[in-house]
Amino acid sequence: MSHESRVLPPALRGRLMSADAAAALIRPDDHIGMSGFTGAGYPKAVPKALAQRMQAVHAAGAPFKVGIWTGASTAPELDGALAAVDGVEMRLPYQSDPVCRQRINAGQMEYIDIHLSHVAQFVWFGFLGHLDVAVVEVAGILEDGRLVPSTSVGNNKTWLEQADKVILEVNTAQNPQLLGMHDIYYGTQLPPHRQPIPLVRPGDRIGETTLRCDLDKVIAVVETHAPDRNINFAAPDDNSVRIAGHILEFLSHEVRKGRLPAELLPLQSGVGNIANAVLAGLADGPFEQLTAFTEVLQDGMLDLIRCGKLGFASATALSLSNAAMADFNANLADYRRRILLRPQEISNHPELIRRLGVVSMNGMIEADLYGNVNSTHLMGTQIMNGIGGSGDFARNAYLSIFMTPSTAKNGLISCIVPMTPHVDHTEHDVQILVTEQGLADLRGLSPKQRAQVIIERCAHPDFRPALRDYYRRALDQSPGKHTPHLLQEAFAWHLQALRGERMGHGA
Ligand code: COA
Repeated sequence: MSHESRVLPPALRGRLMSADAAAALIRPDDHIGMSGFTGAGYPKAVPKALAQRMQAVHAAGAPFKVGIWTGASTAPELDGALAAVDGVEMRLPYQSDPVCRQRINAGQMEYIDIHLSHVAQFVWFGFLGHLDVAVVEVAGILEDGRLVPSTSVGNNKTWLEQADKVILEVNTAQNPQLLGMHDIYYGTQLPPHRQPIPLVRPGDRIGETTLRCDLDKVIAVVETHAPDRNINFAAPDDNSVRIAGHILEFLSHEVRKGRLPAELLPLQSGVGNIANAVLAGLADGPFEQLTAFTEVLQDGMLDLIRCGKLGFASATALSLSNAAMADFNANLADYRRRILLRPQEISNHPELIRRLGVVSMNGMIEADLYGNVNSTHLMGTQIMNGIGGSGDFARNAYLSIFMTPSTAKNGLISCIVPMTPHVDHTEHDVQILVTEQGLADLRGLSPKQRAQVIIERCAHPDFRPALRDYYRRALDQSPGKHTPHLLQEAFAWHLQALRGERMGHGA
């Protein structure tokens, strides 16, 4: 595939058009499946053109909103642009855009936060309604009509199969050498016809290098030349380095105990600076021949591949800084031997996560005394991002680890609280909690035993006396002694924080 000509089928040449012309083919109330996952591989031009068209229609006094379904988070050109013009009726399954977030929390936009592995089958089952249009970025269209995926796969296979109409953005800024890095599995069936997915190692290739597409459905092809939204990672701060240190020490301990092999088990690492710090720690650590079965590949994973510690990584998308993207593009032929990008229904598949025995590490907002974890809501009611793949991995992993600094907002907020006002991962799915203070291994512990370990190992020393006091009084006064709580007081800490006061004061 050359840089110059990326739209090879002659039949599609007549459907080349501007983003404005393509956006004009989208109707109010359409459900649109867009490509894009963690700021990679999203359409760069049609969403912006659609937002402009919506603005003009709104100015004329008519309503114009659509449903936006994606792989996961996208970028200001997509989520930000459409949210800013009040163009989104329903957003799913994950977002992290500040404008979107603001509108959702103001009650102006509907949002369904869905496990990322569920989205494709929800669409096949018809739970989400009909998919009208797919808008998918690709790196090229081959002579025979097969599509070369770009830097994320996400739900693109499902969008292309299920949508009535398809708009393709062919982005010549995406490296043509991406051809061969993808593994698109076409074997998924609906129940009761499902068969085991034939993948037993992260590096197993089980599908095709390209996406299939019925060219008769293609109503527009738009050429773009624009980079992905790459975010730079901050250098790991003290807390991240200490959290990473606790996790690495724990993994070494598990190897010594014979509960993990020397090369560990396939790693899943969430997004963000703490996750990146853990990966950086692994680069300096004792483990060799690591593998990853994860959702996104961030800078730390590429570093591990480059230094020879990580043998193979399976994911659905990239999430790289500008510098890491430059390195990726310069060395793509090498990385292609060590990386496969798959549909998110496979990268996050519970069957595969359980089979491979994944070691899963994700960020959280807060945890309670008994190990229930909130990953999505600030103060119980305001969405931050969404559950993403964290539930897919936590429920099914060999080890499910959640991490956070022990405090937020300059020490006013404790991230260990009596009771979380929102729960994403229940005590049954959470095995290890880590803060910069230490690591709590909750495996094999009853709720009361867990409470003591979480307070003493994970809570910040400033909040330990108040947490101990709450727990002791709960043990004394709670009618049930299995998971003791003072229901009249359980959310008092959050109410204090909402008033701008320090959590737990006056206890
Ligand atoms: N109470 C209230 N606010 C809190 C808080 C708490 N306990 N903990 C953090 N915050 C605030 C921070 O102060 C920050 O606010 P700001 O944006 O005003 O500065 C904000 O929440 C984000 O915190 P930060 O520490 O920067 O978060 P992060 O980048 O480490 O991400 C999650 C943490 C939980 C939001 C993120 O990991 C996430 O979205 N997880 C769910 C999805 C997921 O796990 N994906 C990966 C699966 S593959």
